Amino acid sequence: MSSPIKNVAVVGGSGNLGPAVVNELVDAGFEVTVLTRGSSTSTFPAGVASKAVDYTSVESLTSALQGQDAVVSIIASVAVAGQKPLVDAAVAAGVRRIIPSEFGINTRFLGKEPIGAILQGKIQTLNYIHEKSKQNPSFTWTGISTGLFFDWGLEHGSIGLNKDTKTATIYDSGDEPYQASNLPHIGKAIAAVLKNLEKTVNRYISIASFNPTQNQVLEIVEKITGTKWTVNKLPASEQQQIGVEKLSKGDYSAFSNFLRKRIFEDGAGLAVAGPDNALDLLGLEGEDLEESLRTWLAE
Ligand SMILES: NC(=O)c1ccc[n+]([C@@H]2O[C@H](COP(=O)([O-])OP(=O)(O)OC[C@H]3O[C@@H](n4cnc5c(N)ncnc54)[C@H](OP(=O)(O)O)[C@@H]3O)[C@@H](O)[C@H]2O)c1
Repeated sequence: MSSPIKNVAVVGGSGNLGPAVVNELVDAGFEVTVLTRGSSTSTFPAGVASKAVDYTSVESLTSALQGQDAVVSIIASVAVAGQKPLVDAAVAAGVRRIIPSEFGINTRFLGKEPIGAILQGKIQTLNYIHEKSKQNPSFTWTGISTGLFFDWGLEHGSIGLNKDTKTATIYDSGDEPYQASNLPHIGKAIAAVLKNLEKTVNRYISIASFNPTQNQVLEIVEKITGTKWTVNKLPASEQQQIGVEKLSKGDYSAFSNFLRKRIFEDGAGLAVAGPDNALDLLGLEGEDLEESLRTWLAE
């Protein structure tokens, strides 16, 4: 039985997801150190240490990770492919659990979907971690798929709603349930993984605050606002074609198009309900969809 995790290094704790994770780890009683780029101007809550590192240097990272029990990487999508030095440093520093920067769709079964081309950085990093873990059994990992960031996506358009214009974009019938998680809930799940080392060892898990359909979300926002919203209906398959065209020109914003096709398409089958949702394993409960939408509409 391994001793509990105490010291946690968070990589990229200043971005979209990072602050929620840092807060939840601190609340759960972990000693948190955030690693930042030398160029970073990020600031962190009182009691959270920060260390500037060079993400290309195993030496710099190994020195920063001395004494850390776990590494949680929330590094930016553009930087996920460069995590090998971080993995090597984690092994060298004796880190016991790494959670790599996944936090989206499950990257373990993408088949030949074109979105897989853009997710290679995540896929290769996890493959590398797996290999290192086999060579060093005390170095363990957990991958976490969260589906869409729901609270963040309401603000940033990925849920398809615009509260200023009261407009909803719905792909296909709008009846396909999709995996979605609120940022603080993801932070709680990460903390729970680090408190449940044995249950989560060398596993890829999926969590969801809820699995709504686009139509359910629309129905709730119409109920709360007391008005009918303008609905634009689009075929999900068109998003795939747009993505392929963009990618052929080296435009990686294709990711959003591929993502819409993958999760909203009728029959996508990517909801993580019942035993597929690891919240139970982590001792957590789901969240309230209507409450999340009320909070957003009131902001
Ligand atoms: N499921 C979803 O809907 C969804 C949405 C967005 C993101 N994600 C995923 O969640 C993870 C975290 O994404 P995020 O949006 O929170 O990340 P982000 O805000 O773009 O970046 C996180 C931090 O990474 C650090 N960083 C290190 N190298 C960097 C570089 N080359 N360029 C930019 N930043 C760099 C920065 O911290 P310092 O400045 O302190 O060094 C930055 O604040 C990723 O795996 C991403 O793919 C999922």
